[in-house]
Amino acid sequence: MKKISLLSGKAIAATFIVSLLAFLSINAVVSAEQTPKPIPEDVLSILNNSCGKCHNQGGSGAALANLNLTKWDNYDAVKQAKKAEAICRTINTEKMPPKSFLKKNPQAALTDQQKTIVCNWAKE
Ligand code: HEC
Repeated sequence: MKKISLLSGKAIAATFIVSLLAFLSINAVVSAEQTPKPIPEDVLSILNNSCGKCHNQGGSGAALANLNLTKWDNYDAVKQAKKAEAICRTINTEKMPPKSFLKKNPQAALTDQQKTIVCNWAKE
């Protein structure tokens, strides 16, 4: 009797360890895909300069609905990844900053080097 319960105790422990390992490895895969993407200082200063007028808190409603840089940390990892991609895309296609805005604010235009810095971060 004692032997049997000892054995089943080991079996339970083994099952527990196996499922724990499975759980941990699944978690590792999921979190690798969904790591938060904070905006580093160099990227943030470019975005603040070129996009902040509209996309920082207090900016324009339509712009904020699409991208609120001030609330970046509140976005979940999936949303951050999508927005980072959209930031790089709109910069490269010159959709953003809007041309009308650049006419009055030429200093907001991004240099090629700034675009590279932003897109390298977006794609990392
Ligand atoms: C003059 C205000 C203004 C500035 C400056 C501006 N945006 Fe926008 N942005 C908007 C508005 C308004 C919208 C929503 C309407 C639209 O999509 O055109 C928008 C939408 C977006 C979107 C979502 C639309 C899409 O195509 O995915 C992204 C991403 C974006 N902006 C990124 C940027 C980035 C990056 C910068 C700076 C390099 C920037 N914006 C500068 C006003 C601005």
